[in-house]
Formats: sequence, structure tokens, C-alpha cells
Amino acid sequence: MDKYRVLVVGLGKRGKHHATHFHANPRFEVVGLCDVNPAPLPGVASTVGNPVTGTDAAVMARELEPDVFCFTTLPDLRSEMIRIGVECGARLIAFEKPVALTSEEGLKVKELLSRSPAKVVVSHQHRYGKHYQAVKDAIASGKIGKVHTVYGVAHGWAAQMLSHLIDYSMWYNDYARPTWVMAQAAGKRKLSDVHASPDYVAGFVQFENGVRGVYESGGGAPDVPEVERWWGKNRIGATGTEGYAEVYTGNGWKAVTRNGILTGDGTMAYDLDMPGYIQDMADWLDKGKVHPCCFDNAYAGFEVMMGMFRSAARGGQVTLPLRDGANELEELRRTLSSAPLQVTLEESKKEYNG
Ligand SMILES: NC(=O)c1ccc[n+]([C@@H]2O[C@H](COP(=O)([O-])OP(=O)(O)OC[C@H]3O[C@@H](n4cnc5c(N)ncnc54)[C@H](O)[C@@H]3O)[C@@H](O)[C@H]2O)c1
Repeated sequence: MDKYRVLVVGLGKRGKHHATHFHANPRFEVVGLCDVNPAPLPGVASTVGNPVTGTDAAVMARELEPDVFCFTTLPDLRSEMIRIGVECGARLIAFEKPVALTSEEGLKVKELLSRSPAKVVVSHQHRYGKHYQAVKDAIASGKIGKVHTVYGVAHGWAAQMLSHLIDYSMWYNDYARPTWVMAQAAGKRKLSDVHASPDYVAGFVQFENGVRGVYESGGGAPDVPEVERWWGKNRIGATGTEGYAEVYTGNGWKAVTRNGILTGDGTMAYDLDMPGYIQDMADWLDKGKVHPCCFDNAYAGFEVMMGMFRSAARGGQVTLPLRDGANELEELRRTLSSAPLQVTLEESKKEYNG
């Protein structure tokens, strides 16, 4: 069988991970590497079979006509790259979370994709961690009874972390569709970050199957004492009629069930998570098995995130799916108080109070 030809655009941290793991999978061949900054290109190229390199994604996509157009640029660059992926006729477009920074931009992405037959994958790859999977198994096998609440907590700001929290908790709730969201936010410092977000956002989501979602992302979130490393201090889980099950991104998992307490290890590691994520792209292309990180799932979660921002700026419940686009970041810039965020953890001060 011919290999799928891959162009990777944006050779920073995540681009290198993607190029390495496409190259390691026998179903893929990396045929192009692109970055506006040419410095990393020769080094990465030498480790992934010496593909063509260049600095202009549109030109490379047109010339190489890749089967897979993968871009891993920072979140301020989305619809422009999606357009290139659609126009080059790629069979699969893979890109990084978050889907976009505002619903205006997210809608543009969705509209461009609606005119294309391309399969689309968004990188919520933590779910391949064995601790994330163990929690899914505990929930799906009924060990915590009937799920009524799913939740996620992280100290990283929303454009960095909320997308992950929402996606995995929605997986734990079988991707039931969200119907409304209501939230509050505080702190403007990270509104000028490239992962632009309020410093802290907390909110509630109603899912159509009756389950409630509760999320906190940013410096006001409660500690996750099970984990030491700041970025790994994330708690994602579900509570049911007979117990709960939750994963700690940086340190294993735990379930309290009607038959006792279950625990296990596991930590988020790109080298462990990327192979399965890439293999599922091959399986979607080869066998038609829809990727668990498909755009439909990611977009539903993205709307929850944008709904939270919108509710924080405007007040009240926001109905989902969203019917129109808006620039939620501008709304938050206008409406949030300039008071510095009151952080929970000493370590968070350097991010939110500096
Ligand atoms: N899924 C995860 O676990 C995870 C982890 C970290 C980051 N991310 C996400 O990955 C994305 C990238 O993050 P990163 O840390 O790799 O960023 P990075 O800054 O390390 O890399 C981005 C690269 O894109 C390049 N670039 C910018 N504009 C370009 C253009 N027009 N054409 C080609 N290249 C261009 C930059 O020169 C840079 O090398 C972000 O959306 C981030 O949120 C996801």
C-alpha cells in the first residue's frame, strides 16, 4: 500500500513531535517541512527522512499536493492554514488545539471545512495516556454508576488548557451535546498572550443527556495536590451515583467505586501519546474508522469554551450550539475588571501577577 504523504507546517515544539511520529509510522511519509523561520528545518529534516523544506506553506502545499496537511502553528493562525489545506486537496487536515481563539475565527474554520471532503483531526492527544483510558474504562463499565457530573480543573489559562479539559470530560460523557453554558472570568493579563484568554474562567455546562459539566481553568482554580508539576495539575473526571473516577494529567488516576477504590499510574508524555494519535489517522484513512479527535468533537468543545467566554462578558446562559460568530476576547477586554487576579498557588503569581 502506498504511504500517505505528509506536509508539516510550523516546526516548533509540536511540529517536531508531529514530524517525528508521522515519520515513525509505516503508513506515512513526511514529504515536506515548512516554517517561516528556516532555522529548525535542516535539523528536523535530517531526522525524518530529509524531506523538502521551505518557508511558504501555500507554495509548498500547492507543489507537493500532500495527502495529509498538518499545521502546528500558534493559535493566532487558523483559518488561513485551513484554507491552504482545503485548497491543496489534502485528504486529511490535522491541526493543534485550540480550534481558534474566538468564535468568529472558529466559524470561518468550520465554514471552510464544510466545503471540503477532507477528514479533520484536532490534537487532543492526552486521551491516549493509559491513566486517561483507565478512567474512561471505569466510567464506561458502570463502576461509578450513572454519571451525573463531569468536570475539569487546570491552572494553565484557557487557550492552553480548557480545550483539553472540555474534550476529555466530554469523552467521559460519550460526547453528549452541550445545550447551554454559563461562566464568570477574572484577570486580563493573559488577554494579551498569544494564547489569549482571561486569567481565570469558571463555568457550568448543561449536556443534552442531563449531565452537568463544571470547569475551572486559570490561576483561580483550586489546587490539585495529587500532582506536583504546575502544568500537570489538572483534574478531569466524572461523578456518578455510586462513586467517581478522575485522571491527574501529571500523576495517575483514581476511582472510588461501589466495590472499592481503584488507582493506577500514568503521566502525560508526548512520546507515549503521539503514536496512537497518528495511528488513528491511518485507520481513518485506511478503514474509515472515525478518529476520536475528529473535528466534530473538537468543535463541540470549542463552542463550550467560546460560550463560557461570552457568558463571562455578557452574563447569563449562552445557548449552544452558537448561532453567530463574535470576538469574545474583545468583549472580555472591554468588560473585565483590571484588578489583578487573586491566584490560588504561589507558583501561579509569575504567570498572572507579574
Ligand atoms: N496538544 C498538546 O498537548 C499541545 C501542547 C503544546 C502546544 N499545543 C498547541 O500547539 C500549537 C503550537 O504550539 P508550539 O508550542 O508548538 O508553538 P511554537 O511557537 O513552538 O511553534 C510554532 C511554529 O510555527 C511557526 N510559524 C508561525 N507562523 C508560520 C507560518 N505562517 N508558516 C509556517 N510556520 C509558521 C513558528 O515559526 C514556530 O516555529 C498551539 O496551538 C498550542 O496551543 C498543543
